[in-house]
Amino acid sequence: MPETTQEPIKVYEGLAGVVFTESELTFIDGEKGILTHLGIPIQDWAEKSTFEELSYALLHAKLPSSAELAAFDAALKANRGVPPALLEQIKNYPKTANPMQMLRTAVSYLGLLDPNSEDTGAENKYATAIRMIAQFSTVIAAICATVEGRDAVAPRADLTHAGNFLYMLSGTEPTLEQARLFDIALVLHADHGMNASTFTALATASTLSDLYSAVTSAIGALKGPLHGGANEAVMDMLDEIGTSDRAVAFVTDMMDRKEKIMGVGHRVYKFFDPRSRVLRDYAALVAGKQGKSHYYQILEQVEETVVARLSGKGIYPNVDFYSGVVYSDLGIKKEFFTPIFALARISGWTASVLEYTKANKLLRPLALYTGQSDQPLTPIAER
Ligand code: ACO
Repeated sequence: MPETTQEPIKVYEGLAGVVFTESELTFIDGEKGILTHLGIPIQDWAEKSTFEELSYALLHAKLPSSAELAAFDAALKANRGVPPALLEQIKNYPKTANPMQMLRTAVSYLGLLDPNSEDTGAENKYATAIRMIAQFSTVIAAICATVEGRDAVAPRADLTHAGNFLYMLSGTEPTLEQARLFDIALVLHADHGMNASTFTALATASTLSDLYSAVTSAIGALKGPLHGGANEAVMDMLDEIGTSDRAVAFVTDMMDRKEKIMGVGHRVYKFFDPRSRVLRDYAALVAGKQGKSHYYQILEQVEETVVARLSGKGIYPNVDFYSGVVYSDLGIKKEFFTPIFALARISGWTASVLEYTKANKLLRPLALYTGQSDQPLTPIAER
């Protein structure tokens, strides 16, 4: 079809509703608020599994046996180290930079340092995926250290993926409960079908570019406030609201002014995002233990007010609505929330690239041309 076609054709704004590939990894029913990976509900993954197991399942499109999971876990642990040259580079990043800019640059640099980065064969891509999943935690923890002006903490091989990350973030071993709560947050964010960053990774990988380039592009897409940056924006809103007695008036004003409320609404879900329900329950649990954190109280009010007014339009809380409160209860600063999203989504990105490039097709949609035709190139002095 010519790109300049004059025929009336339907434009799918934002590619909404467009199906461009098949996948056996993730299923979403946005009307009913259902999310499954390999057909297994997200609630079960959160309650009964781990980030390591889900990462294996996504990369292989099957559940591991206990021996397979043990080997995969050992491979992740063995790959936690990152080249000293990268750690040195991260130390010298401008302190004013956004941590997602730092992550984007760091992952691109990891590709520079990998002598096999240009090998786009399936076997090397798989090995690189495991290394990236493992190294993301060390790289992100080092970025957090740089932002906070302290030395990076080296990874430990005796902790889980989630526990080790929290350890590197603070230098203190987390409790089992904290590590498990963080693990659940990673599970909930690991994959989500053709979201903007995964699609971006696939668009890059579909040119037969390398995995580092695909992931670097995905990081750029995740950074935006309409995608991964939303949970930080939710915390900004909570800080602005201040106390729960101001919440109803604050969001009512926002809705009257037709402003978007961060952490609600979703391209696919027109009902409660099931991940938001799991996180809400954990946020409530942690808040209860701590005598109800004031953030949680505000969110309860915001949710009630927004759902009462906007549910008719299919607008409900998404995963980012409660994740920031859970992270902040774990002592994590809000500027690190989006990199932590990437820490989880690296599994979905790499698994989707591996799956898509098995039967690769260059991604190249069309735009309906609405400009003029048959125009002369008027000399510049006459324009
Ligand atoms: N608050 C208030 N109204 C909203 C919101 C919101 N957060 N989201 C959508 N709407 C309204 C729009 O104003 C619009 O109303 P209208 O038809 O009267 O003009 C209608 O719903 C459709 O909105 P769009 O932005 O066109 O829908 P789209 O599918 O493109 O948006 C998006 C999805 C970008 C996620 C949107 O809901 C949004 O901006 N949410 C806030 C940001 C956010 O939380 N992002 C995280 C998404 S989840 C994730 O990435 C992990």
